[in-house]
Formats: sequence, structure tokens, C-alpha cells
Amino acid sequence: MDESVRLDDSWVCSDLGQAAMELKLGDAALQLQTLMSRTGAGADFTGWLDLPVSTSEQMLQRIDAIAASLRSISDIVVVCGIGGSYLGARAGLELLADQPASPDCNARPEVVFAGNSLSAWQLRRLLSKLADRRFSVIVISKSGTTLETAVTFHVLRDELVHRFGRLEARSRIVAITDSGHGVLRKLATDEGFETLDLPGDVGGRYSVLTAVGLLPFAVRGFDTRAMLKGAADQREVSLGAPAELNAAVRYAAVRRLLNDKGKSVELFASFEPAFHYVGEWWKQLFGESEGKSGKGLFPASVDYTTDLHSLGQFVQEGTHCLFETVVDTVSSADLTFTCPLDAADGLSYLDGRTLSQMNHDAKAGTILAHRDGGVPVLQLSIPDLTEHSFGALVYFMEVACAVGGYLLGINPFDQPGVEAYKRNMFALLGKPGTEAAAQDIRSRLAQKS
Ligand code: PA5
Repeated sequence: MDESVRLDDSWVCSDLGQAAMELKLGDAALQLQTLMSRTGAGADFTGWLDLPVSTSEQMLQRIDAIAASLRSISDIVVVCGIGGSYLGARAGLELLADQPASPDCNARPEVVFAGNSLSAWQLRRLLSKLADRRFSVIVISKSGTTLETAVTFHVLRDELVHRFGRLEARSRIVAITDSGHGVLRKLATDEGFETLDLPGDVGGRYSVLTAVGLLPFAVRGFDTRAMLKGAADQREVSLGAPAELNAAVRYAAVRRLLNDKGKSVELFASFEPAFHYVGEWWKQLFGESEGKSGKGLFPASVDYTTDLHSLGQFVQEGTHCLFETVVDTVSSADLTFTCPLDAADGLSYLDGRTLSQMNHDAKAGTILAHRDGGVPVLQLSIPDLTEHSFGALVYFMEVACAVGGYLLGINPFDQPGVEAYKRNMFALLGKPGTEAAAQDIRSRLAQKS
């Protein structure tokens, strides 16, 4: 089976040394076994491992039917969720938008994202955009208690009732939430919303290949089966190939080695802006999975060449805390640059060159310069911007993240640290039951103690 995601770690490995790499790869292979045998930390949340092969045709048909119904009644579909409940869908939709092989998205409802902040300005802007358009809402929350999502959904639901009446509003809402528990599950059952399950053994940031990602993709007319097939093909390699030939395991190992050698920041970089939200999804996946017990690489992302003109200086000559992972693909869109010999802007040497060639040379030059500046560079690539490749990339990153987390000795499937801000915020907002904590927090804020 050919791998869709390719890793070029040759420069970094030669710098790190063959022996160190082999040792780490051996450890990573053991951690992959732990992951697959479901005997490691957080094993109850490893259901994502099987999604590419366990998602039934019946489920996909249900998703297709719901997507068709939303399409028929909507100009805009609002996906209301935060963190793992929206980043994967947004990453895929923005990566695949405008590709020549993509469906005619002009004929589909626009998909917009909300419920991922508490910004009044953002919500007001959305409401004015929705004012004279037919809209529906896909609300996604595994817990059902996430404030950003719950508040935004409440406002959108009121707007739906106001615009379309209670009965029709109900038919314009789809809830994706935990299969058995939570406030949103109860609300959906009480109100009779259409629901899709977020399996209990799949955490938010590992949920792209559930209805959380599949329904928004289907609304836009993307091929969800091809996406799952890409993930299934990648699964075969990532769970089956020997460590040295297994790019996900190698990626996990080499990141850890760089971390051991003192690098504390991994910069996800792409020369294709369509990868911007893949970077956002990747940051959440790795940041929330790894950042525990004072350990982990800080995941950051940049869009090149744009950010070479803002952060390039730091990458090249700043604190030596970084390594880069440059993610790319072969561009299917191109533009040939024409310029007369006597052009005053001096660009005639580029006459007949394509933008892709220029971008390619910019990439090669940047990678060499950064390496010369002491920044190790890993390269990842997918063959094209298709549903198949996106599915493969998602699965690849999930395996690499889980194996890397086990190598670090942490549980890559929980996020206990996220609760700290929520405790303070809910207390300050006066959530019932938090009165004592609120008093303490207010006095600490007043005294700055
Ligand atoms: O990965 C995770 O579990 C989190 O990032 C969640 O996806 C995020 O906090 C949203 O939670 P919920 O889906 O419960 O609203």
C-alpha cells in the first residue's frame, strides 16, 4: 500500500545521528503497539483508530440525507462549535475549496463557522449576514456545556424561531453530540432536533472522521467516502508498516528527538495558504494532546511566504528554540507570468515562469536558509488536494500525535488543563454552585494575589 503522506526527514536524521534515531524509532514502535492494543493511558478514547473502517454505509447515507435536506432549505449553514468541534471541518473545507476537482460549491449553501468565541462583534456580524438569507444550524458539542458554543447556539436558535417559527426552526437544527450524555443530548431529545452521534470513545480533537467533520463536508458536496478511504489506506500503513518505513511513527520519533535536544517549538509551515486551517487544527491536536506535566512541544504555525516578511527574521536568527515542519502538495492551479524584456520593474527574467515555480524556488531557498540558520526542517507532503489525501493526512497526524504523546509519557487523549480557566470564568459569571469560588477569585483579582 502506497502512503499518501510522505515524510522527508533525511537532513534532520543525518544531523541527529543514525544511532539516536534508531533508538527512538524502537521506542516509538513499542508505543504504537501500546496504542493499538489499547493498553496505554486514555485507552478508552481510542475509538478514532477504527473510524475509517468502522463507519457504516448506513451512517454515511444518513449523513447524505441530512446534508441534502439542509442544502434544500438553506443559503447558509452555520456550524456552531469550538476546538475539536469545528477545526477539522474548517481545515478540510478550506483546504479543498476551489480545487478544480471539487464540487461546484457555488451551487451549495455557504458553510460558516460560529460558536468559537464570546465576541459580540463577531456574532452581530454573523446575525446581519444571516438577516435576509435562509439558514440552518449544525450545533456540535460533545459535552454540551461549552459556553462559547452554548451561548451562540441559544442566540441562533432564538433567531431561527423568530424568523421561521418554532416548528420550522426545529427542522433547521442538527445536533451532533455525545451518543449518551450531556445537556445538548437532552435538549435535542426534548425539542426533537435531528441528531448525529459523537461516539463516547472519540475525543473532540480526534473526531474529524465522525459526523463532526463528515456532515459539513457532505453539505458542501464533498465525497465523504473518499475521505474515509484515504484515512483507511493511511491506517493500513500507519498501523501496519515497520517503524523505519512508517512515516507517522518516524515523524513522532523525530519530533521527540528534537524535543530531547532542546527544541521547544514546532513551527507548522506551508507555502500554500489553503493549509492555513490545517495548521490551526494541527495546533489544537498536538497542543492539547501533548502540553501536560510541564512537557511537550509548543505548536505554532505560519503561512509562507507571507510570514517570511513578519516572522522570517526570528526563524532565521532568533532564539534557537524552533524546528519547522513544512507541509506541502503539488499545486493543481497555476498562472504563467508574462513580462516584456524592457519592463521597468525589472521582472523580465521571470517571463514565462509559473507562480508555482516561483513558489517552489522560494520554498527550496527558505528551507536551505533556515537549515543554515540552525533550524532543523522536516518536510511532509500529500500528493494532491483531494478528499482522499485530506483523510490520509488527518489519520497520519492523529497516529503521530498519539504515539508522540506516549513517547512523552503523558495521556494524549485528555485535556485537564482546559478546566482551569473555565472554573474561574463560570464563577465570575455567577453560575449556580460557584458562589464561594467566585468570592475568592474576586478578592484575588482585586489584590492581584
Ligand atoms: O479536543 C477536545 O476535546 C476539545 O478541544 C473540545 O473539542 C472542545 O473543548 C469543545 O468541546 P465540546 O465539543 O464538548 O463543546
